[in-house]
Amino acid sequence: MRQAGRSLPEYRQVRGTGSILQAIRDPDLATEITLQPVRRYGVDAAILYSDIVVPAEAIGFGVDVQPGVGPVVAEPFRSAADLARLRPLEPDVDCPWVGQTVRRLVGELGDVPLIGFAGAPFTVASYLVEGGPSRELAKTKALMIGDPALWAELVDRLADLALVSIRSQVEAGASAVQLFDSWAGSLSPSMYERHVLPASTKVFAGLADLGVPRIHFGVTTGELLPLLAKAGADVVGVDWRVPLDEARRRLGPSVPVQGNLDPAVCLAPWSAVADEARDVLARNAGRPGHIFNLGHGVLPSTDPSILERVVDLVHEEGKAG
Ligand code: CP3
Repeated sequence: MRQAGRSLPEYRQVRGTGSILQAIRDPDLATEITLQPVRRYGVDAAILYSDIVVPAEAIGFGVDVQPGVGPVVAEPFRSAADLARLRPLEPDVDCPWVGQTVRRLVGELGDVPLIGFAGAPFTVASYLVEGGPSRELAKTKALMIGDPALWAELVDRLADLALVSIRSQVEAGASAVQLFDSWAGSLSPSMYERHVLPASTKVFAGLADLGVPRIHFGVTTGELLPLLAKAGADVVGVDWRVPLDEARRRLGPSVPVQGNLDPAVCLAPWSAVADEARDVLARNAGRPGHIFNLGHGVLPSTDPSILERVVDLVHEEGKAG
């Protein structure tokens, strides 16, 4: 999730102004930014400093990420003619800096695993179709149900984009991967199953031979959790809206989970934050297959020292569990 920039003064210091896509193109800078939270917090894994729109931008779709706004697309996806703008990704040619950053990081991280990632076909499609962030995703849903054949072609191409991008990150040394379908929770289970599941399943199936853990995440996905697992993920990420014990009940005992402290909780005084973090651990009740994290990205005004204490608490009390 969008973590680093949200909490660290050292991030703001090196990030510079302008589009994050510029920072991502600089392997020295992207390596440094990826390492910052690991250094400061002592977390158990690093997540590559990149963004879900990097592959679409790299093939020339015309995407930028505006600070304080998010991804914006100059000419949104409207019709079959726009499919021609979604050619296959060649990572070594189109975005060689990603592999360079991953290789550099793996050298620096030692035993700390690096998580590579991509945006899931639905969430990336939502930006390409809407042209920017949107609450209702009305244009996206209208395309999905109004022209299901074109929609299927669109998400199939975005599945290939995600797949090729993630595979190249693993080949460069990433040791776990995450598919971010952040906005999937805006869909009903039947819409998800019919119009999104096949494309996301294609991504997970195409990663199976790599033998790395595959995580699948979205927000407001309480009703979709079993479908996120069905797509072929090894681990399902859970936001804070579903208590972790209930999420595990919905997923069954064999599905590991990642989650799910509410990021807003981290703005409260420490004793309240500690209670909430302990509550997440208690709901897992010591069962194997729990990766503790926030239910979504760190909020910009979070005090880094609170996050430091959360990590320490989980390390201390998680051990006992
Ligand atoms: O924490 C990290 O640095 C990991 C790398 C990472 C980023 N984006 C960097 C970033 C990851 C894993 C993402 C994924 C991402 N990007 C998602 C999926 C996860 C999620 O948070 O739901 C989505 C939906 C995006 C699209 C995106 N990029 C949005 C909505 C924004 C926020 C715009 C803003 O400024 O509020 C971004 C920008 C972005 N990507 C930032 C970071 C650290 C924000 C700070 C910055 O621009 O420097």
